[in-house]
Amino acid sequence: MRVEIVKQYTSRLPAEDPHPYRTGAWRPNTVEVDAYDLDVVAGEIPADLEGVYLRNTENPLFDALTGRYHPFDGDGMLHAIRFEGGKADYRNRFVKTEGLLAELEAGETLWAGILEAPALSKRDGWGARTRMKDASSTDVLVHHGVALSTFYQCGEAYQLDLETLAPRGTANLHHPSFPKGATISAHPKVDEATGELLFFNYAAEAPYCHVGIADAGGTLARVIPVPLPGPRLPHDMAFTERFAIIGDFPLFWDPAKLAQGSYRARYFPDLGTRFALVPRDGQGAIRWFMASPTYVLHFSNAYEEGDAVILEGYHQGAPIPERTPDDTPISTFMKSLDMHAMKTRRHRWRFDLTTGETKEAPVDDECSEFPTIHQGYGGKKHRYVYAAVGEPGFFLFSGLLRTDVETGAKAIHRFPKGVFASEAPFCPRKGATEEDDGYVVTFTTDVVNDVSECQIFDARGIERGPIARVRLPMRISSGTHATWAPLSRR
Ligand SMILES: [Fe+2]
Repeated sequence: MRVEIVKQYTSRLPAEDPHPYRTGAWRPNTVEVDAYDLDVVAGEIPADLEGVYLRNTENPLFDALTGRYHPFDGDGMLHAIRFEGGKADYRNRFVKTEGLLAELEAGETLWAGILEAPALSKRDGWGARTRMKDASSTDVLVHHGVALSTFYQCGEAYQLDLETLAPRGTANLHHPSFPKGATISAHPKVDEATGELLFFNYAAEAPYCHVGIADAGGTLARVIPVPLPGPRLPHDMAFTERFAIIGDFPLFWDPAKLAQGSYRARYFPDLGTRFALVPRDGQGAIRWFMASPTYVLHFSNAYEEGDAVILEGYHQGAPIPERTPDDTPISTFMKSLDMHAMKTRRHRWRFDLTTGETKEAPVDDECSEFPTIHQGYGGKKHRYVYAAVGEPGFFLFSGLLRTDVETGAKAIHRFPKGVFASEAPFCPRKGATEEDDGYVVTFTTDVVNDVSECQIFDARGIERGPIARVRLPMRISSGTHATWAPLSRR
């Protein structure tokens, strides 16, 4: 392995940092490197694995304005590993957001974080609630050969060169009807059948939500307002051949607190959940379907079947985790990031387009989240889902779960104690024609041995453990989302 240091940044965080999400597996990275011909420590990189695995992570260089740091405040950093011919190269770069560059220039924190009041920000900024920094640290995907990083509180889509991770400005997706500084949320979707990019944004002002569609070349083609009764906090979307799907969940900023300038999420289960089926062609009315109250962080997929739309996602039994008398501010905060405390389970909704009725049911009793599927099956009926499982207490992934949704058969791989995985997309084998013919790729963060690896699994044999383990040049921080871009698709 040959490693070249590109840039070392200076951290202004406390030397003895007590924060649970800036230490351990969440210890931020502050150096950018290029690394070539990575060492394979076990197994062999398959010659028919060709593409780039991209991972977004949160890496704060400065403390929060008032010290109340939330892990999603951290500045986005992309890690990319590129496989070709049985070899692997790696590089990582901060997403050079306008906010990060301004804070580096000022030498201090300029914007209030998620747990802080936006009014405290020293400058106007971005985000659904305004006056935040667009950290671009939540999600990453590839559209028309360009990597796009996005932020779940809304901002811009930052473009990076897929080969070099060099900055390429922001995607030209803004429309005059969009709220200022909130062009796009995390979790846009690429429909591989059409090449289109589907995205959404949300804001504190009416109509509170928009769906946007960019064509295969990245040009904004259509904008559809999604009228809601008030500000909502959608995190993900799904799509079928004809519809974009957005949830109106009863977890949103408490209107009473909002009137006082405080953005505090509250659960209103009596309102139930509604799903909007938004015609992608912009023709015809949005159709709404009622469902039981919940909050969904991530959907695995949706598709049309006869005169129905099937939606699969991760239903939360407790969107605001239950509090106990001995809870402290820290333990309450830790629960807010714990999929076990939120009781997430894979779930299916069936929207009958003829009767307007919804049928829904949990389809797995295992707690899991962060689903991925073969991206070519987005919007079409899928059979396999790959998700992450975790131990109670922390936002960390301790295992990978493959589910055959047709038979219910599950396979699981659990990592050794102290080793945590990242979101693990399915990577089709070069030339494959079957849905599960390929690999599942993840980064690991090993806090026991202070190393990171990229681990490759046979998608049909996850339970057998990795078929290849590739050493990364440094231990990388845990984070949120990842994606896979085959070389053949660019
Ligand atoms: Fe997410």
